Amino acid sequence: MTQRNAWNQASDAFNSLHEDDRPAITAATREINARLGSVAGLDVLEIGCGDARNCVELARRGARVTGVDISDAQIGLAQQRVDAAGLSVGLLRADAVDLSPLSDGSFDVILAIYAFQYVAEMAACLAECARLLRPGARLIFAQDHPIRACFWDEEMQEESVLPARSYFESAPLHWSFVGTDAAMTSHHRTLGWWFSSLREIGFTVTHLRELPLPDGWADDPDVDEYTRDIARFLPQVMVIEAAKR
Ligand SMILES: C[S@@+](CC[C@H](N)C(=O)[O-])C[C@H]1O[C@@H](n2cnc3c(N)ncnc32)[C@H](O)[C@@H]1O
Repeated sequence: MTQRNAWNQASDAFNSLHEDDRPAITAATREINARLGSVAGLDVLEIGCGDARNCVELARRGARVTGVDISDAQIGLAQQRVDAAGLSVGLLRADAVDLSPLSDGSFDVILAIYAFQYVAEMAACLAECARLLRPGARLIFAQDHPIRACFWDEEMQEESVLPARSYFESAPLHWSFVGTDAAMTSHHRTLGWWFSSLREIGFTVTHLRELPLPDGWADDPDVDEYTRDIARFLPQVMVIEAAKR
């Protein structure tokens, strides 16, 4: 199943999750918004914008926003949300590795919240980001901390109490989106990979944050004991900010 089909299939299930049921994304979104600061008058691109909930928020804060997503279903929902808000947000269905409809040096900020881990050719995507940003402009993204992948038991399709695979394993992970048959593929790169790839492609890493889940989530009695311990003891979310040189 292609990533596009998988996200078309998972779209409704993903967007119907309450904020509390996507704690890592919620934590990542809060951190990114805090880092963004004032966006009034800035040209902002969100890669993997989903149903455009962040795009709409940024447009309300005065940014000129473009959202890109690989999934037709997600872009359809994004368009509905943008229309309902009565705001102007450009939306484009495209793969993050080929953003050729967008012009060189046309953005002040690119952000990606829980999108880059679904991109197989990440170096090509980073090259597109470097092309689209103005000199000194910022790339800010967040996703699962790579240590999390060590605790995913692919055979059992559940989190394991002990590491189930090496931190250095680069093969993609396969899993089904909860409550659907959508066959997801995600890619986990080490912190070292991110640091050296960003530097080689023309960025300076200016900020790295390793976050736990939001307070209280790991104490939820509905969450199984192993998952709670992993969430308590290990970072769950990685946030990186880099400046285009
Ligand atoms: C976990 S969702 C996050 C959505 C949104 N950023 C949010 O915070 O609600 C990941 C999104 O990335 C999109 N995506 C996955 N691979 C992509 C790719 N190669 N290019 C563009 N978008 C992609 C998916 O369609 C999906 O909407």
